[in-house]
Amino acid sequence: MSTVDIILKKKRGEELSSEDINYIVSGYTKGEIPDYQISALLMAVCFNKMNERETYDLTMVMARSGDMLDLSRINGVKTDKHSSGGVGDKTTLVLAPIIAACSVPVAKMSGRGLGHTGGTIDKLESIPGFRTTMSDEDFINNVNKHKIAVVGQTANLAPADKKLYALRDVTGTVDNQSLIASSIMSKKIASGADAIVLDVKCGSGAFMKDIESATNLAHMMVDIGKRAGRKVCAAITNMDQPLGYKIGNSLEVEEAIDTLKGKGPKDLTVLCYVLGSRMLYLANAAESIEKGADMVKEVIENGKALAKFEEFVEIQGGNRNVTKDYSILPTAKYTYDVIAQGGKFVKKIDAEMIGKAVLILGGGRLTKESKIDLSVGIELKCKVSESTKDGHIATVYSSSEEKAKKAVETVLKAYTLSDERQPVPKLLYACVD
Ligand code: URA
Repeated sequence: MSTVDIILKKKRGEELSSEDINYIVSGYTKGEIPDYQISALLMAVCFNKMNERETYDLTMVMARSGDMLDLSRINGVKTDKHSSGGVGDKTTLVLAPIIAACSVPVAKMSGRGLGHTGGTIDKLESIPGFRTTMSDEDFINNVNKHKIAVVGQTANLAPADKKLYALRDVTGTVDNQSLIASSIMSKKIASGADAIVLDVKCGSGAFMKDIESATNLAHMMVDIGKRAGRKVCAAITNMDQPLGYKIGNSLEVEEAIDTLKGKGPKDLTVLCYVLGSRMLYLANAAESIEKGADMVKEVIENGKALAKFEEFVEIQGGNRNVTKDYSILPTAKYTYDVIAQGGKFVKKIDAEMIGKAVLILGGGRLTKESKIDLSVGIELKCKVSESTKDGHIATVYSSSEEKAKKAVETVLKAYTLSDERQPVPKLLYACVD
C-alpha cells in the first residue's frame, strides 16, 4: 500500500477500504505522510465523495486517534447535544442546566469559537472565575453529584481530526459533507455520551446553506452515530439570521439567563424545547418528545433550571450571583446605536456578516491563538419581520471607537429593510430521528 495509490484510487472515484483509511489517518497523525499528499486526497474526496461505510471508517479512526472518554462511572444515560455552528447560538448554556434539572446527566465537552461562529467555552469563561478545565475524576464526580459538568475539549480528543481540520481549513476542503460529518462525530463519539442530539444549522450563518444539504448532513451523522452504537437524532434548524438578539460572549450569557428565567427570545426558547425534549426522550427520561417538552416547560417555570445553572456556575468556580446582577460580567466601554434607512421592516439579516462584525470588535477568533474580548458584541434591536423602531436596528458594544465604526458599517450591510412586513421565518425545518 502506498499513499499515492490511495490518492489515485479516490481520484478515479473508487471506494477506499478500511485499511486504506486507517493507513492514511494514522500515517498523517504520526507525521509520516506529508501535508501535500493529504491535501491531494482531501481534494479528491471533495470531487468524488465518500460513501457511508468510508465516512464511518474515517470517523472511527479519527475518534480512536486519541482519548476515548469512558463515562461508565456516571450513572444514567449520558446525553450530549451538538450544534454544527452558528451566530448567537447560546443553546448549550440554557439546555445543559434544563436537562440536569430533569435529573438526566450532562457530561459535556464543548469547543471555543472560531471565525464568525462562537463557542460555549468562551461564553462560559465570561463569567468571572468560571473554570472550564478539571481532572477526569472531578468531571465524573460533578456529573454524578450535580448532574452537570461542561469542560473544554482536551488536547488529546480526536487529534487526527484536529490535524486534518487545520489542513482542510487552508486547502478549501472544509465543505465536503463526509468530512464535516466525520469530523463532528469523531469528537462526539470520543466524548463518550450514550445519546446525542444534533442541531444541524442551515442558512447564511451556517456551513450548510440550503435545506437539502443540511438534511443530507443530518442523515449522515445520525447514520454514523447509530453504527457506533449511540442513540442519535438531529434537528435541522434555521441559521439565516442570528439566534436570539444578543451576539458576543457576555451578552450571550445574559440572554441565556433570561431564557432560563422564561423571559428569553422566542426563537432561542423554541429551539431549547425542540432539542431539550429530544434529549430527554433519548435519555429515557420522557416517554415521548411531547412529554419531554412538558418537562422542559416545568423546570423553566418552577425555577429549577435557573437554580441548576447557579449551582453549575458555583461548582465550576464562577460567581452564582451573575443571574441576579449582569454587571458582574465584562462590560464594554462604548455603546453605539446603529441607525438604518430604507424601509420600516426587516426583510433579511445576513447572520455570517453579523458574526464578522463581532469578529471585528475582537469578540471572536481569527486563528486558534487569537485572544478575545469577552465584553464586546452586538445587540439586535429587530429581527426578520419586525419593525425597525425608527431605524434603530442594533447596538454595538465595543472597547474601541475605531473597531466600533467598522462594526457599525458591517451591521448596516448585514440588514436588508423593506416597507412590507415579511412572514416570521420558520425555525425548525425537519427532524431526522
Ligand atoms: N465543525 C467541526 O467540528 N468540523 C467540521 O468539519 C465542521 C464543523
